Amino acid sequence: MAKLSPSILSADFTCLGDQLRALEEGGADYLHFDVMDGAFVPNISFGGPVLKSLAGKTSLPFDVHLMIERPDDRIPDFVTPQTEIITVHYEACRHIHRTIQLIKSFGIKAGAALNPGTPAELLEPVFEDLDFVLVMSVNPGFGGQKFIESSYRKIVRLCEMRSALNPSLVLGLDGGVTLNNAAAIAAAGIDVLDAGSSVFGAPDIAARVREFKAILA
Ligand code: DX5
Ligand code: ZN
Repeated sequence: MAKLSPSILSADFTCLGDQLRALEEGGADYLHFDVMDGAFVPNISFGGPVLKSLAGKTSLPFDVHLMIERPDDRIPDFVTPQTEIITVHYEACRHIHRTIQLIKSFGIKAGAALNPGTPAELLEPVFEDLDFVLVMSVNPGFGGQKFIESSYRKIVRLCEMRSALNPSLVLGLDGGVTLNNAAAIAAAGIDVLDAGSSVFGAPDIAARVREFKAILA
C-alpha cells in the first residue's frame, strides 16, 4: 500500500495546528516539509525553526525535502527526533556521496530528488547508498502545478534500477498529485506520494486524506 505525505507548503499557517490534527485523523503517513531558499528554486518558504517548532506537536514522522543550494551546510538544522527522511536535490550537490553519508550519520534516511529534466541514470553510482529517491513531477518551487506526464518513464527506469541495485529503496513522487492520478502513480511503482494543494485545498482535509488512502489501499 502506497503512503501519503502531505506538504505543509499549501497549509493555512493561521490554523496549522488544526490542519495537522486533520492530517493525523485522516491517516496521513508523513508530514512533507518543502524547504526553499530562493536560489536553487525561485521561491522562499521556511527553514529549520519552523520544523523544530512542530517537533513533538504532531505524531507524524517528518519527510524533509530540501530545495536549497549547498545542503550540507544546513542539514543539521533539520535533524529532530521526528525526522525520518532528508532528501536533497541531485542538482544541488557537488559531492552527493558525501552528502548522503552526512545525512545517514544522524541516523536519518537519505534521499535524492531528481528534477524533471534530470535523468535517473545519474543516480546509478550512489544507488546502493540511498534509502529514498524522489521523482519531481513538476519543476520545484511552487505548489499547485500540473503533473508532467513523462515522469512515468522515469518511474519505470527507477524501478528497473531498484530491482537490479537496491530492492529496499523507497520511491517517492512530488508534484501535481491528485485524486485522479494517484492510483496510476502508485501502480507505476511509487511508494510515497507527496501532495500539497490537493490535500490542503479540500474543504475537509481529514476526509480528503481518507479519500487518498482509499485509492492507495
Ligand atoms: C514543489 C514541492 C511540492 C509541492 C507539491 O516545489 O516540492 O512538494 O508543494 O504541491 P502540489 O501537490 O500542489 O503540486
Ligand atoms: Zn516537496
